[in-house]
Amino acid sequence: MFDTLGLICMILWCMTLFHPLHADIQCMESDTQESPITNVNVNWRKMELSWESSRNFSEYRCIIMDRGMEYIDTEVDSPLCSFPVELYMPMHKGLTFVIEVPNTNISKQCSFLPGGMKGSAIENFSCVIYNIFLMNCTWQAGRDAPADTQYFLYWQNSKDEEEMECELYIKDENCRNVGCIFQNVSIGIEKAYFLVNGSSKDSLIQFYDEYIDLYKIEILTAPLNVTAHCTRDPMGCIIMWHPPLTSHVENTKCFQYEISIQNKDEPTEEKKLPRVRSDRYEFQNYNEKKRYTLKIRARGKNCLVNSNWGEWSEPIEFGQGKDYFIFVILFLIALGTISITLLLYCLFKRYCSFKNLFPPIPQPRDKFSALADEDIQTEYVNLTTKSHTEKITTIEE
Ligand SMILES: *[C@@H]1O[C@H](CO)[C@@H](O)[C@H](O)[C@H]1NC(C)=O
Ligand SMILES: *[C@@H]1O[C@H](CO)[C@@H](O)[C@H](O)[C@H]1NC(C)=O
Ligand SMILES: *[C@@H]1O[C@H](CO)[C@@H](O)[C@H](O)[C@H]1NC(C)=O
Ligand SMILES: *[C@@H]1O[C@H](CO)[C@@H](O)[C@H](O)[C@H]1NC(C)=O
Ligand SMILES: *[C@@H]1O[C@H](CO)[C@@H](O)[C@H](O)[C@H]1NC(C)=O
Ligand SMILES: *[C@@H]1O[C@H](CO)[C@@H](O)[C@H](O)[C@H]1NC(C)=O
Ligand SMILES: *[C@@H]1O[C@H](CO)[C@@H](O)[C@H](O)[C@H]1NC(C)=O
Repeated sequence: MFDTLGLICMILWCMTLFHPLHADIQCMESDTQESPITNVNVNWRKMELSWESSRNFSEYRCIIMDRGMEYIDTEVDSPLCSFPVELYMPMHKGLTFVIEVPNTNISKQCSFLPGGMKGSAIENFSCVIYNIFLMNCTWQAGRDAPADTQYFLYWQNSKDEEEMECELYIKDENCRNVGCIFQNVSIGIEKAYFLVNGSSKDSLIQFYDEYIDLYKIEILTAPLNVTAHCTRDPMGCIIMWHPPLTSHVENTKCFQYEISIQNKDEPTEEKKLPRVRSDRYEFQNYNEKKRYTLKIRARGKNCLVNSNWGEWSEPIEFGQGKDYFIFVILFLIALGTISITLLLYCLFKRYCSFKNLFPPIPQPRDKFSALADEDIQTEYVNLTTKSHTEKITTIEE
């Protein structure tokens, strides 16, 4: 009994220890006779292909090829090929290497085929960077993955950095990891490498890997401190702002901006303004009697900055608009009402103190000064409705 349990445990232990990248490299000989090339080995991190040769050749040619038949080749004089690290070929779909000796028929072809159950690898892996330093990566469990499959994400921001496991997983209702939140991401020049592998009691889970240019997945934050200053002479508004904050762009010339100005009275009508590269724009079709809402968004141009539009800035309003005149009239009427009320109150108070019949009334002055504009407006609106009803009554008579 215990032996069987022990055996099962040992099998599980072995399976979790199994590293997906240790999946076999299978090699084929070019012809039936034994090839002088043996012991083919790959160092994935350094992208180095090495082998042994029973004969000394002055030259070798190495080719690396992915499933999409994209390939790169290089010639060397010793049994070690270093592929450029910028190759960034994901391995989950498998890779093929060929070692050839020029001017002979000697060659060796090896395939790297990742192991694991078909359909068990994650799908729809995607990452986004937002709020400058935060990154979310999400994925979906493989459609044929066993129910107990758990996934793990490892990533490397650059070749020089250590491989790290996700620190904060996003889990689904079954406690399965379906995403990862990164809290302090800096965007570098190199592509970042992501690998999601998995484990299950029942079967070996295929891994998924991908290289991503982090700057391409950043959602740019909104331009900052947007302001509009309008003048009557000359008639126009100067709109100014600051570039969005990023963790990696110093050059303010890396951005292009889109400016949206809407007339508040015709919200469906949006002004198509030219896109600008500076952080300043002169709005000339300004109509003093109108009120506008303004928002700006940015995208990258020519630099290593995302070329998709980022977030809109919070809309700000400018221009005086009709609202201003209505407000002035409202304010004057409210002022009149207050004056009359105060006058009446003073007369009343004088009359009362003269009579000296009632105890002193608490000071209502605070109440008046505390009246907000809104209250005054409401008061005014109530007054008008009253006068309206009165008018109607007169007509009925
Ligand atoms: C290959 O050449 C090296 C020196 O360049 C020598 O030490 C080695 O023995 C040679 N090997 C064979 C198999 O000829
Ligand atoms: C390569 O093999 C072909 C026949 O398969 C032969 O005709 C040719 O001479 C060989 N070349 C060399 C360099 O061995
Ligand atoms: C991945 O996304 C595609 C398209 O949105 C969808 O059809 C597919 O079902 C998704 N895969 C999984 C495993 O949910
Ligand atoms: C990132 O993930 C968190 C937690 O699941 C979520 O609240 C947030 O909206 C996500 N952000 C983006 C940009 O997807
Ligand atoms: C974020 O990462 C940078 C380097 O990538 C480091 O200097 C900084 O201290 C980190 N900040 C936090 C809050 O971890
Ligand atoms: C997943 O990959 C990481 C890093 O390559 C490795 O340390 C870990 O053991 C693997 N886990 C499984 C379950 O294969
Ligand atoms: C934007 O304005 C705030 C104050 O409102 C100020 O603290 C901040 O430094 C300004 N940002 C820039 C980039 O000038």
